[in-house]
Amino acid sequence: MKSQLLFITITGTLYRGLLKPLLFLLDPEFVHVSMVRFGEICAVVPGFKKCVRWLYVRPLPELSQKINGTTFEFPIGLAAGFDYEGRLTQALSPLGFGFQTVGTITNEPWHGNAKPRLGRLPHSKSLMVNKGFKNPGANTIISQLEKKSFDIPVGISVGDAKGSIDEIIAAFKKFEASSIRNTYYELNISCPNLHGAMSFYIPKNLEDLLTKVDALKIKKPIWIKMPINLSDKETLSLLRVISKHSPAAVIFGNLQHDRKNKSFDAAEVQKFSVGNFSGKPTFSRSNELIALASKHFKKRFLIVGCGGVFTAEDAYTKIKLGAHLVQMITGLVFRGPQAVAEINFGLRELLHADGHTNIKDAVGTHSQPNK
Ligand SMILES: Cc1cc2nc3c(=O)[nH]c(=O)nc-3n(C[C@H](O)[C@H](O)[C@H](O)COP(=O)(O)O)c2cc1C
Repeated sequence: MKSQLLFITITGTLYRGLLKPLLFLLDPEFVHVSMVRFGEICAVVPGFKKCVRWLYVRPLPELSQKINGTTFEFPIGLAAGFDYEGRLTQALSPLGFGFQTVGTITNEPWHGNAKPRLGRLPHSKSLMVNKGFKNPGANTIISQLEKKSFDIPVGISVGDAKGSIDEIIAAFKKFEASSIRNTYYELNISCPNLHGAMSFYIPKNLEDLLTKVDALKIKKPIWIKMPINLSDKETLSLLRVISKHSPAAVIFGNLQHDRKNKSFDAAEVQKFSVGNFSGKPTFSRSNELIALASKHFKKRFLIVGCGGVFTAEDAYTKIKLGAHLVQMITGLVFRGPQAVAEINFGLRELLHADGHTNIKDAVGTHSQPNK
């Protein structure tokens, strides 16, 4: 394991010292698309996955959890938005990912918002996201994923750019009629980059949506991707609605809309006239909402933490506040592809230091985020 940790440290140092400075000179969307294609190709090169897995992954029983019948060997997943074309389902387990979400996918192909769709805020450790659900649509994803088997749980994030309930239901129907072996769905009710869309932050609209989703009698668990910019009171009223319907989990949460968030470098964020933000500016509010949901609904929902996870300590904070699983994107971009392995090994140390033998023992042991 020592040589593995050394390799992880070396690749991280090389990524941050050499590759990242070069990549950050190029157009962010071009880099994103190229990295996804690169990962897709690597996954089919004979022996490549085996080699990467040997370098980055060891079985760590402390991190393995069985949740509603599904084993998650590792608690870190790729959040919705990075693999919006379903290209990476064969590529991620050798990096130490325990699960991944594809999407968000709409019923019909969707062009997304006009450029710029992606930007970087290095001082704020954040990305500007203005994708607006750009994706190839449910039929393309189905034809791509139907043939595949997955070595980690895969979820499909479903949404609609205009918030049309009929379109969301149509997409679910297509996926349910397909033979994709996904473990779960995410229902994205919280993309802040959609202009003029029907708002599911209004409890009545959410109620209408979930009533129709319930009627589909979907057996796979549905996780709801929650916003982070509502007040505690508003969030609780949405959670009360969700709790009366079929969804099994809530994810806290989506992007940061509030440009006054104190994690931003104020001059940096002002450069962007469009979009919402990932990374560190999402961290604290996501934590507060995990704690809130855990306090009121831990018996009802599985909680998934997402937002601003860069290190094992960040992931552990979310776990201690009530999250069984954690998702990330931006930490990967800033720290490098070895970040997930770094987090897995780091989490194991943190669990041991607190006297826990499994991650489940640490879930919800803290009720309040540190201010
Ligand atoms: C490039 C990019 C695209 C995203 N697209 C989606 C999306 O399509 N659906 C979704 O639910 N969240 C989307 N998100 C939000 C992420 O899933 C996540 O909630 C957010 O980035 C916070 O996590 P992070 O700080 O680890 O990146 C996107 C984020 C990024 C960075």
